[in-house]
Amino acid sequence: ITDLPLKGKKVIVTAGGTKERIDPVRYITNDSSGKTGHAIAEAAWNKGADVVLITASSIPVPDRIQKVAVESAKEMHQAVLEHFETADSLIMSAAVSDYTPKTVAENKMKKTDSLSLEFEKNPDILKDMGSRKRADQCLVGFAAETEHIIEYAQSKLKEKNADMIVANDVGQKDRGFNVDNNEVTFITHTSEPIPIRLKKKTEIADDIVSWIVDFFKNN
Ligand code: PMT
Repeated sequence: ITDLPLKGKKVIVTAGGTKERIDPVRYITNDSSGKTGHAIAEAAWNKGADVVLITASSIPVPDRIQKVAVESAKEMHQAVLEHFETADSLIMSAAVSDYTPKTVAENKMKKTDSLSLEFEKNPDILKDMGSRKRADQCLVGFAAETEHIIEYAQSKLKEKNADMIVANDVGQKDRGFNVDNNEVTFITHTSEPIPIRLKKKTEIADDIVSWIVDFFKNN
């Protein structure tokens, strides 16, 4: 018996750490590998979804998943905007840079004794999609925190109008950024926080997708 509860559903997943250019050869980024987002994309495909993976990671993507390669937060925002209206679910697992250099040097910057850069805010993709979300769409965000994890994730749930926030403690070396395992808590409007024990990101991806399947059953 095949169990394809997401057949006919379009799921968008974002993955990886965005890169914010300083000059043609330099950029600012973070430690996100894309492992989490790529695992979620695969898990959603396994449940029958049509998957669009908008990724800043260089992990290879199988042909069964539609890949949109992006570099910066602004590019990721554009790509998400292009797909969101026709999507049933968006899962924002990407580590999106909150800031970007105000100007990008046209040529490689020459060495000076010191260097100061000015940054401006990037668009908040999750918040923007939260403001556009229809009742039939399921919006999942992440919260990368090092303190007050549950409390901060609960405010992100409200502030960004998401249906679920996957909260994780990114202050520990054996979980979170750029390793194979994670320990997370699902923060939702409908239940107490749901703790997910330390395990493989591929297993957590299955748990997230199962939660989305239930969301569609109840909404
Ligand atoms: O890629 P891996 O190596 O597997 O690592 C996984 C992970 C640690 C990156 C992942 O588990 C994680 O926590 N992803 C979210 C990282 C993040 O940007 O968290 P945040 O708390 O700063 O942002 C909250 C939410 O808003 C996130 O869903 C983020 O995608 C989104 N966001 C943030 C900033 C911004 N400008 N636009 C956004 O949409």
